[in-house]
Amino acid sequence: MGIPFLDLQAPHEELEVELLAATRRVLRSGRYVLGREVDAFEREFAQYCEVEHAIGVANGLDALILSLKALGIGPGDEVLVPSNTYIATWLAVSHVGATPVPVEPLATTCNIDPDRLKAALSPRSRALIPVHLYGQPADLDALLVFGEEHGLVVVEDAAQAHGARYKGRRIGGHGHAVGWSFYPGKNLGAIGDGGAITTNDSKLAQRLRALRNYGSHTKYHNEVVGWNSRLDELQAALLRLKLQRLDEGNAWRSSIAALYDAQLAGLPDLLIPHVMAWAEPVWHLYTVRHPKRDELASYLAECGIGTMIHYPVPPHLQPAYRDYGFVPGSHPLAEEMARHTLSLPMHPHLSECAARQIVEAIQTGLDKLA
Ligand SMILES: Cc1ncc(COP(=O)(O)O)c(C=O)c1O
Repeated sequence: MGIPFLDLQAPHEELEVELLAATRRVLRSGRYVLGREVDAFEREFAQYCEVEHAIGVANGLDALILSLKALGIGPGDEVLVPSNTYIATWLAVSHVGATPVPVEPLATTCNIDPDRLKAALSPRSRALIPVHLYGQPADLDALLVFGEEHGLVVVEDAAQAHGARYKGRRIGGHGHAVGWSFYPGKNLGAIGDGGAITTNDSKLAQRLRALRNYGSHTKYHNEVVGWNSRLDELQAALLRLKLQRLDEGNAWRSSIAALYDAQLAGLPDLLIPHVMAWAEPVWHLYTVRHPKRDELASYLAECGIGTMIHYPVPPHLQPAYRDYGFVPGSHPLAEEMARHTLSLPMHPHLSECAARQIVEAIQTGLDKLA
């Protein structure tokens, strides 16, 4: 049978009775868009993130687009983004008509390097989007100070960081707005698409509530040119149940990460994740780096172990951004990460026994590759 990279069914089998009851509750409610479930989920998620407001939207990409739009970012503006992120971070910038300006990461944490921001600034710089990549918080204090000094709004991309803490405080309310994805594979995943924005700014929250709903607070009265980007009642009802299990799932991910850390540290040429002292990551992904990444992945596949690559092609080298004129070598750290990074199985239903088998296979595989 092997060990799959991810198991999306197991958490739903475990919760099936409750999930079906929640589905029935929505079916019988007669209210399927922006009703009680979304209201309740928004309250519960905001409380979980230790923040004033949560606004449910259709997906994580929309969460970033709407945040930028509500903060006034648009054509002519430049937005600093990590060079190594999922392309959605860049797409959000492009969709509001602004220009993504890539900044290379720290080689240790893979998060945006605060010391490289200055070189990327221009008179058109208006915003900064740090991504809490793989579930580890970026260095928010340094980033927020830089943003403040240079008049940039900060929109965090927390699509991979549900429950993570920076210096003891939950991710969700540090920047002006924080975008979340509830794509099924996320630490808090829906059974379909979903997303949210969190913020402590009440006026911004109000603007976002209109923007996600045709630019309207009152039916058939449209104050701004908005979207239709709403979290479904059904997904909200299911997410409410899954939110109750999030901390338990994250704790299990941490114990698997600790096992990987202990067993994989010091293996030849293998880089394991570096966690900053102030970070409490939630291990959305556990990524290792190795110069013979593809050979290692093939060996693990032969052993029946699923792995994935996050991400094989950095945004600046995607055809979607060909017009920007980036060439291989223009962002070498992101490119090196794309060549060498491998994500190991990591999810709340991965058994300790399976994790030990993965470790043994890596040890044997690296011996063969040496
Ligand atoms: C870092 C990052 N940003 C944004 C997104 C976009 O989220 P969604 O797939 O819900 O649009 C994702 C997830 O896919 C992501 O990993």
